[in-house]
Amino acid sequence: MPHDHDHPSTYLFLLAGAREGGNTEALARAAAAELPAHATQTWLDLRELPLAPFDDVRHAGDGVYPQPVGAEKILLDATLTTDNLVIVSPLYWYSVSASAKLYLDHWAGWLRVPGADFKARMRGKTLWTVSVLSDTDQTTADPLVGTLRLSAEYLNMTWGGALLGYGNRPGDITTDTPALTRAKTFFA
Ligand SMILES: Cc1cc2nc3c(=O)[nH]c(=O)nc-3n(C[C@H](O)[C@H](O)[C@H](O)COP(=O)(O)O)c2cc1C
Repeated sequence: MPHDHDHPSTYLFLLAGAREGGNTEALARAAAAELPAHATQTWLDLRELPLAPFDDVRHAGDGVYPQPVGAEKILLDATLTTDNLVIVSPLYWYSVSASAKLYLDHWAGWLRVPGADFKARMRGKTLWTVSVLSDTDQTTADPLVGTLRLSAEYLNMTWGGALLGYGNRPGDITTDTPALTRAKTFFA
């Protein structure tokens, strides 16, 4: 309901890059700058909220996962309470960064956290991604896009789409005029 002002949209931006001041965050910030004033933006940096290695105990014992604490709880709560989830990940080896992938892996546990109601609460949210790659052929980002689009489908989320830009060194994105133009209407 993009025009329902009684329930302004909320956006959670998950920064999943491995350096400060990267191109991917810059491109995401350019897109976020165009969000309406009544939309709420939350930015979380996965480097500041490190997740433990994911432990696959789904099929061991009762298969129940404990209530998350610490950084994991912050990420779970932020994920459950947002309308829009934006994975802000550079393209690493044709896919999402390790921190973004680890966050996604934890979804498999959160589906089994008693009371979290993860599957039901993810349904209907919109998943988006912003990524920057150093290849001029944007089809090389297909694995990243496919990972996220199919994961959204799995959880009955809406797929918002991918905003892709070109960059290698920090600041390169400022010269990718077409990407910055696409950023202006990405969330529209
Ligand atoms: C571990 C690693 C893997 C990368 N893999 C790819 C890749 O598969 N394809 C590509 O085009 N660029 C690749 N790059 C380049 C980055 O996508 C590029 O430098 C991008 O600007 C980084 O985003 P950032 O500026 O937000 O940190 C890789 C960089 C790193 C550090």
